Amino acid sequence: MKVTIIGSGNVGATCADTIARGDFAHEIVLLDIKEGLSEGKGLDLWQSAPINYYDSKVVGFTNDYSKTAGSDIVVITSGLPRKPGMSRDDLINTNAGIVKTVTENVIKYSPDCVLIIVSNPLDVMTYCAHKVSRFPKNRVMGMAGILDTARYRAFLAEALNISPKDIQAMLMGGHGDTMVPLPRYTTVSGIPVTELIELQKLQAIIERTKVGGGELVKLMGTSAWYAPGSAAAQMVEAIAKNQRRVFPVCVLLEGEYGLKNVYQGVPVVLGKNGIEKIIELKLNETEMALLQKSAESVKEVMGVMDRLDG
Ligand code: NAI
Ligand code: 2OP
Repeated sequence: MKVTIIGSGNVGATCADTIARGDFAHEIVLLDIKEGLSEGKGLDLWQSAPINYYDSKVVGFTNDYSKTAGSDIVVITSGLPRKPGMSRDDLINTNAGIVKTVTENVIKYSPDCVLIIVSNPLDVMTYCAHKVSRFPKNRVMGMAGILDTARYRAFLAEALNISPKDIQAMLMGGHGDTMVPLPRYTTVSGIPVTELIELQKLQAIIERTKVGGGELVKLMGTSAWYAPGSAAAQMVEAIAKNQRRVFPVCVLLEGEYGLKNVYQGVPVVLGKNGIEKIIELKLNETEMALLQKSAESVKEVMGVMDRLDG
C-alpha cells in the first residue's frame, strides 16, 4: 500500500505521522512545492520510526510527481489555510488553481488511485478534483465530516463528563457554517443523547460545532491540523484495510437525498474501492430543510469555481 500526501504543511505532515504510526502502508510519500520541506519532514518522520515503532517508509520530494507513481491513495492538502476573519470560501481563487494543477499531476502517475481532498473550501475542491480527474465518483471524496463530527463529539464528552469514545454521532452537509449536526442520530453507547443533556445545552454545542474551525483560527492565526490530519488518516486506513467503516464523507450526490450535482457530506461505507455505498437516512422535514440550505450554499461556490474555470 503506497500513500501519497500532497502538501507537507500542518495537515499533510500530521496525516503522514498518523498513517505511519498505524503501520499499514509500506511507503508514504510527502510532496510539496516548497523546496526541502517534504524532504525534511519525511526524514524527521522516518527518524521517528524506531521510537514510534513502525516500518512504513516515509520519504519526501519537492514537486517531483514521478516519485508518487503507483500510489493507491492520494491525499491532497495543498493550498492556503484560513487566516482570522476569512471564511473557507474566501480561499477559492488560490486553492482552485492549486488543486487543479496538483490533481492533473497526480493522475498522470497514479491513474487508479483513490483521491481524498482536504484543501478548502472542501466541498468545492472535491468537485474541482473530480472534474479534473474524471475518476468515477467512488474514487474522489472530501474529508470534513469526520472532523466536524469529532468536534461535536469532543464538546459533548466535555459537557457530559464522559469518554469521547462512547459518543457516536452523524453530521451532514457542507464543510461550513451551514453543516447539519444530527442530534436524532447522536447516542452515548446507544442511549439517545437527548436523554442525557438539556436541549438548550445541546443546541449550544451544535452552534459551537458549526463554527468550530473558526474558533481555532481565532486562537492560532491559522487553521487546525491535529484533528484534520488524523481524520484524513482515518479515511486512508479504512480504505487501505478495506474496513467498511461508516463515516460522513463529502461525495457527489446524484439524486440521493433529493439532491443532484452537488457535493455534500453524507454517511457512506468506506472500503477498498473508496466509497462502497452512500447511506440514505430518513431525514425529517427540519433536517431535510437544513441539508437543502447547506447544498444551496455549496452550489453557489461551485458556480464561482465554474466561472473561474470557464
Ligand atoms: P499549510 O500552509 O500548513 O500547508 C499547505 C502546504 O501546501 C504548504 O506547505 C504549501 O507549500 C503547499 N502547497 C501550496 N501550493 C502547492 C502546490 N501547488 N503543490 C504542492 N504543495 C503546495 O496549511 P494546512 O494548515 O496544512 O492546510 C492545508 C489546507 O487544508 C488548507 O486549504 C486548509 O484550509 C485545509 N483544511 C481543511 C480541513 C478540512 O476539514 N477539510 C481542515 C483543516 C485544513
Ligand atoms: C477547519 O475546519 C479550517 O476547515 C478547517 O478547521
